[in-house]
Amino acid sequence: MKVLEVRDITKKFGALVALNSINLNVDEGETVGIIGPNGAGKTTLFNIITGFLKPDKGTVWIFGRNVNSWRPHKIASLGVSRCFQIVKPFPSLTVWETVVVGSYLKSRDASEAHEAALEALKLVGITDLKDRLSRELNIPQLKLVELARSIATRPKILLIDEIAAGLTPTEVDKMVKKLKEIKERLGLTLLVVEHVMKFVMGLSERIIVLHYGEKIAEGSPESISKDPRVIEAYLGTKWAEMREWS
Ligand SMILES: Nc1ncnc2c1ncn2[C@@H]1O[C@H](COP(=O)(O)OP(=O)(O)O)[C@@H](O)[C@H]1O
Ligand SMILES: [Mg+2]
Repeated sequence: MKVLEVRDITKKFGALVALNSINLNVDEGETVGIIGPNGAGKTTLFNIITGFLKPDKGTVWIFGRNVNSWRPHKIASLGVSRCFQIVKPFPSLTVWETVVVGSYLKSRDASEAHEAALEALKLVGITDLKDRLSRELNIPQLKLVELARSIATRPKILLIDEIAAGLTPTEVDKMVKKLKEIKERLGLTLLVVEHVMKFVMGLSERIIVLHYGEKIAEGSPESISKDPRVIEAYLGTKWAEMREWS
């Protein structure tokens, strides 16, 4: 079943075409990676799928519904959750409080919400951070809290924006393993935007490549890493990294 269909989406900021006629279909249970150099339009695509931005042209369908006119909270209520690239924690909340806020979005019942929050902490592996304040945590830890917060909403589709940035190669491997486990456990569909090739190649079943708002390639991680247009877009540091993981 198709859970997400992005059809012919164009988004402009003034004269800048951030996305140009982008199409993307995602099946239930798939993991799709979205890659591309800085400014390619990746975050804009996430903003449009989650309703934070509205397209100039085209339609977003989620579980067969046209959500173009829907506000973000209504789209979220379909089971779409998003892990933000820039983590803005509430410094004086504990990890537990931050994650429980997520689960209350889904359930008004306190014991149910607490159970979902506990499960999210366990799945992400940060139960031991439960009573720490957000302001005491480092960036990789904050990203895990953000992941737990979005999982606590019990999503069906999870969008993750650059969760691996700043992690060591060993931490990247752990994160890939962890996300695969979480995905299996909760039966999620995953969309990941990522710069770290080791991460996106290890996790994704299919990858789309954006470049200045255009989709320049789509396919398996292996075919993407060999695609001449992709290589050209990534000439320089990224390509050396991609070759390593193809
Ligand atoms: N709210 C906005 N207003 C104006 N320009 C924007 C806005 N959001 C993104 N852009 C521009 O759109 C392009 C795509 O941005 P973005 O989607 O953030 O790229 P990526 O996430 O791939 O790095 C960039 O040139 C960026 O400067
Ligand atoms: Mg971005």
